Amino acid sequence: MTTKKANLIAYDPSGIFLDDTGVSPADLRALAPRLEAARTEVLDEDLRLLAEGVVPKEKDPLDAAFLELPERILAEYRADQSGSELGRILQTARRLQNAVDRVVVLGIGGSYMGARALMDACCEPYFNELDRGQRGSRPRMYFEGNNVDNDASQGLLKLLGNGRPAETIEDRWAIVVISKSGATLETAAALRQFMAALKQSLGGDSQKLAKLVVPVTGTSGKLFNLANALGCNELFRVPEGVGGRFSVLSAVGLLPAAILGLNVVSLLEGAAAMNEHFRTAPAGENAVLDYVGAGHLLEKESGATIRVLNVWSKALESVGLWYDQLLAESLGKEGRGATPITAVNTRDLHSRAQQHQQGRRDKLFTNLIVDSWRCDPLRVGHSELDQDSLNDLADKALPEIMTAAIQGTNEAYHGDGRPTADLHLPQVDEFYVGQLFQMLMLATVVEGRLIGINPYGQPGVEFYKKNMNRILGRR
Ligand code: PA5
Repeated sequence: MTTKKANLIAYDPSGIFLDDTGVSPADLRALAPRLEAARTEVLDEDLRLLAEGVVPKEKDPLDAAFLELPERILAEYRADQSGSELGRILQTARRLQNAVDRVVVLGIGGSYMGARALMDACCEPYFNELDRGQRGSRPRMYFEGNNVDNDASQGLLKLLGNGRPAETIEDRWAIVVISKSGATLETAAALRQFMAALKQSLGGDSQKLAKLVVPVTGTSGKLFNLANALGCNELFRVPEGVGGRFSVLSAVGLLPAAILGLNVVSLLEGAAAMNEHFRTAPAGENAVLDYVGAGHLLEKESGATIRVLNVWSKALESVGLWYDQLLAESLGKEGRGATPITAVNTRDLHSRAQQHQQGRRDKLFTNLIVDSWRCDPLRVGHSELDQDSLNDLADKALPEIMTAAIQGTNEAYHGDGRPTADLHLPQVDEFYVGQLFQMLMLATVVEGRLIGINPYGQPGVEFYKKNMNRILGRR
């Protein structure tokens, strides 16, 4: 039961069907009608309710607009390349690429993790270490406003010159500040601090400052008001009906990605291709529905309440962390919801694998596997110093060793009745990362509808904020 179509991510759940899990292919087939009903609810009922603006209490909030976002943004762009939102994003990206050498993206949670994931997945490793020529004049990118870590903030401000006048392009920097509510303390405090340093580096020139601070926010709120007071030349919106952790394919992720010179059209096309697959393929051939079915059965039948995403590529660690937030904030409600964990292998085989191999039987391991690497295979190589006894592997390259590690780990887990599933990414580029984002967002909302938990909203996050503000003497 493998989803394998040209140009699509493939999902293979065969490693969950083990005697110890008690889950069989017939169980997954039997779940198909419920999975397809959940899909209908997500595609038809939720989108209709959103369009009509009449949301029943149990579905409030209903942030389902992420679903049609890729097609909508692409259609508007194709109709009007310069006046559309994507056209404006690309113009701003080009302006910043020409004006500055560093961009600080301020944001937290869903206003941060997608952009970080895109940078780590799609830019070459050590991108920020490269010189401007090697980067093709694309700015270095840093992320702040995602914590209140004194030393981390000071470290970045120091790197940016602590307000020193910007003389050459290498000294010039800009801020992209992303906050849907516009009221998140971590991001707001960082904006104030980084904006003060930026203004100082511009000799106090408010007009120049207004060109180098680009907000992405809602149509009202504190950040919106601040942007107007500053006279910001460009302002982008977090679309109505799109929640923070579902916003990576809006300006929230697209603007930082475009500044990094990534192919944002391809990113959206990948997401649209996944939408088409989700809408049309039956359960059993549908990567989204099969993924949900496998996770659900394992949790229900064999107590696998922990979902480990084993990413077999360093570039995908931040994608895994983005997914941690998506699953945790969407389904971790009412004392329910699986716990996500990202492991980067083979690295974490040397830190987590002992527990995964022999610890509690409460985990489903999903392998996120890259089928084709960007660079030519790097061989181990022959050496006259064979004290390390590696000459027998001299002709083997890292991709072959990685494949052996994946197969060896799956065999070891299956040998002890530990369930695995494989998610194959043909390669790590914008098109497939767009597919993956959309697949995991769709899977999360389908699972929510399947188990009767509203995947939107994060009411539990408010408690810490309320207490923190009280402790700080605010109301
Ligand atoms: O998923 C979400 O909605 C949250 O994680 C938010 O993205 C996060 O709390 C940041 O909120 P805001 O964009 O309003 O600053």
